[in-house]
Amino acid sequence: MKIAVIGTGYVGLVSGVCFADFGHDIVCVDKDQRKIDMLERGDIPIFEPGLDELLARNTAAGRLTFTRDLPTAIAGAEAVFIAVGTPTRRGDGHADVSYVLAAAQEIARAATDYVVVVTKSTVPVGTNRKVAEVIKAANPNLDFDVASNPEFLREGAAIDDFMRPDRIIVGVQTDRAAAVMAAIYRPLFLRDFPIVRTDLESAEMIKYAANAFLATKVTFINEIASLCERTGADVKEVAKGIGYDGRIGNKFLHAGPGFGGSCFPKDTKALARIGQEHGVPMRIVETVIEVNEQIKRRMIEKLRDLCDDSFAGKTVAVLGATFKPNTDDMRESPALTIVPALLGGGATVRVTDPHGKAEGEALLPGVTWVANAYDAAEGADLLVLLTAWNEFRALDLTRLAGSMRTPLMADLRNIYSPDDVLKAGFKAYASIGRAQRSAS
Ligand SMILES: NC(=O)c1ccc[n+]([C@@H]2O[C@H](COP(=O)([O-])OP(=O)(O)OC[C@H]3O[C@@H](n4cnc5c(N)ncnc54)[C@H](O)[C@@H]3O)[C@@H](O)[C@H]2O)c1
Repeated sequence: MKIAVIGTGYVGLVSGVCFADFGHDIVCVDKDQRKIDMLERGDIPIFEPGLDELLARNTAAGRLTFTRDLPTAIAGAEAVFIAVGTPTRRGDGHADVSYVLAAAQEIARAATDYVVVVTKSTVPVGTNRKVAEVIKAANPNLDFDVASNPEFLREGAAIDDFMRPDRIIVGVQTDRAAAVMAAIYRPLFLRDFPIVRTDLESAEMIKYAANAFLATKVTFINEIASLCERTGADVKEVAKGIGYDGRIGNKFLHAGPGFGGSCFPKDTKALARIGQEHGVPMRIVETVIEVNEQIKRRMIEKLRDLCDDSFAGKTVAVLGATFKPNTDDMRESPALTIVPALLGGGATVRVTDPHGKAEGEALLPGVTWVANAYDAAEGADLLVLLTAWNEFRALDLTRLAGSMRTPLMADLRNIYSPDDVLKAGFKAYASIGRAQRSAS
């Protein structure tokens, strides 16, 4: 099948490359010339494990090309996927669907034959109908269908998630569109991955409900963690103990510094706005947003406590800047709240991150980027473990403590055991959902 994908971000590029790997003929479009130039050279504008190899294989096989020219890309395409951004709209918290509608208009102007216009971007309920209206207004004679096909991939594991999804959601209005979608996903259907055919509105709602549920689960354990710190319980033990309950499950029960990333913050805000607009306030989701903000602020208090109430004159080593490991994505990363607070309090900050520097340099002015955890810790007064990259999971704690001016550690991902950290020579260790420990 010939398919066009609009937007070569985390979702569009992974989708395009994976569809090509299914054997389809894919053209990826982006209006960002820099990204297209890189992709045409075989370079990848984002960091996503395994994507380079898959891209090279499918480009070499002639199934994958890149262009800025949307009309060329969609000529003869049976389906066009819209995978552009839907960021939070400034001021009101709504999802900004203007990029989606602009893409729909461009498709309408360029298309000549029957085409299924598939929205992969996360969009509020009713957007797919708006997409149809925009297309009809721009090209009244065009024969087309719309489909809603929200994406559930996780950055850092995107290829595996796309190739081995828990489910594929397909919202359609006609059998004809359903047949096109079934043909696109046939390789996954043949391997028994569930495909849920539903209506447009339900498909749109499924994506928001899924993300809001996961954000709630994370926030729940983060709030339990705060209570554990006051009561002497250990949140890791609590998470293990409740996670064995099949009704609860052990995923998304890792307490941390509050959720961030490109999806949960904006999608919870958008769902809250959708609820308010329909007179059905999403009170749980609204509370999750509020509690998450509190948790992020609490992290700064935790660090301040560890530093005798002042960051002034201290040197802080920050391990990890991206919102989670295995991505270069800095959107809504906890680092964007914590690092400015350290700098604002008068600290000197050194940051290390395996893939965060390119994005992070502009977002975190005033910090010094260093190559690794040991360079960051040299002469420092506090070490903050912010992102659970593998390379931070087995550090030589004795070496770190020995090289610091004041060996204090805040492990905001609960990677280490308090006993090990203190034994290695650290004076104090703070983590999440466990009482702060000091060397006796
Ligand atoms: N990132 C994730 O993990 C993830 C997961 C599931 C769903 N989503 C959803 O998928 C959508 C895309 O997210 P993303 O993270 O890939 O975004 P992104 O910001 O990384 O990429 C969007 C791309 O679209 C391009 N673009 C915008 N308008 C265009 C147009 N008219 N023509 C051509 N290109 C255009 C931009 O230049 C950019 O490269 C969002 O709605 C997001 O909520 C994201």
